[in-house]
Amino acid sequence: MTYTITVLPGDGIGIEVTEQATAVIHDIGKKCGHDFYLREALMGGCAIDKTGTPLPEETLALCKASDAVLLGAVGGPEWETLPGNLRPEAGLLAIRAGLGLYANLRPAVIYPALKNASPLRPDIISGGVDILVVRELTGGIYFGERGRKTLPDGIETAFDTEQYSTLEVERIARVGFEAARKRKKKLMSVDKANILESSRLWRETILKIAPDYPDVELSHMYVDNAAMQLVRNPKQFDVIVTSNIFGDILSDEASQITGSIGMLQSASLGSGTLGLYEPVHGSAPDIAGKDLANPIATILSVAMLLRYSLSLEAEAELIERAVESVLDNGFRTPDIRSENTKIVGTGEMGRLIREAINAL
Ligand code: IPM
Ligand code: MG
Repeated sequence: MTYTITVLPGDGIGIEVTEQATAVIHDIGKKCGHDFYLREALMGGCAIDKTGTPLPEETLALCKASDAVLLGAVGGPEWETLPGNLRPEAGLLAIRAGLGLYANLRPAVIYPALKNASPLRPDIISGGVDILVVRELTGGIYFGERGRKTLPDGIETAFDTEQYSTLEVERIARVGFEAARKRKKKLMSVDKANILESSRLWRETILKIAPDYPDVELSHMYVDNAAMQLVRNPKQFDVIVTSNIFGDILSDEASQITGSIGMLQSASLGSGTLGLYEPVHGSAPDIAGKDLANPIATILSVAMLLRYSLSLEAEAELIERAVESVLDNGFRTPDIRSENTKIVGTGEMGRLIREAINAL
């Protein structure tokens, strides 16, 4: 059996981190006897430069005909002045919608070897933080009606719309409940039901399906309180399920609690097994091409890809264990450096992880 994976390196450090991640895929293939067929396609700023659009039709078609998609990062200052619908970020929204990837899983985990990286006090994070943010990804205000209106007195206004259907809420809630089931069985639904009608429907819908998951402890929190609780007492959270915009914001906050955004992977899933996997970090144009970027988030995204899209659990764990052993041996890219560690570049970090995979 051949697994087809489309790789979208994108822009900036996306190129060098996906290079390391694809080398890992090839090594896993060799070690475990799998046939991975990898092909690259254009997306983001590089696609704008070559084709005039951030997500060419050809790229979307290749992704649709794949078992999984691995993405680096998109964007950069070159494309920031383009109109909204032509920016690299628009390509990201279009690929999520085009592939029907409504569920975004973003784990925020503090690795024992990196506990000093967290900006939070040791007593707040002692014992470890392990949060999974489940973000709704193809609805809400990022996809709602938007526009501009000039009022009769000449004043310019703009609007964006938050809208959710019960179907959209129910399917993401089920992803949250299922994920909680496999973890500590605690689900926190985050909304703003004291103000927003869309949040009231969100909460009602979640409460309606909760009886299907009697083994999961469900709670609700307003988003402003959740933002505060994440830094006050992050250990209270297991799985957080929330809307597109709240999840965008809270997942960045949760990632920073770990102190090492260069370590965090993500998966975007739909109703089938096709998924899109990418590091949580961006394209970091300031360090691009300098062998400084941390490839671990993208390599861990490969682990998620193997687990969720290809059902290769043992291979996923192999990658995760290899990453941990390289960290335990004191190797760090500059973003996660601390005292008494050995600083290595992007390529060397990738090589060390592959070496560890082959040794396991
Ligand atoms: C993310 C990013 C994107 C988002 C941007 C770049 C469109 O912030 O993946 O969280 O808001 O979804
Ligand atoms: Mg974001």
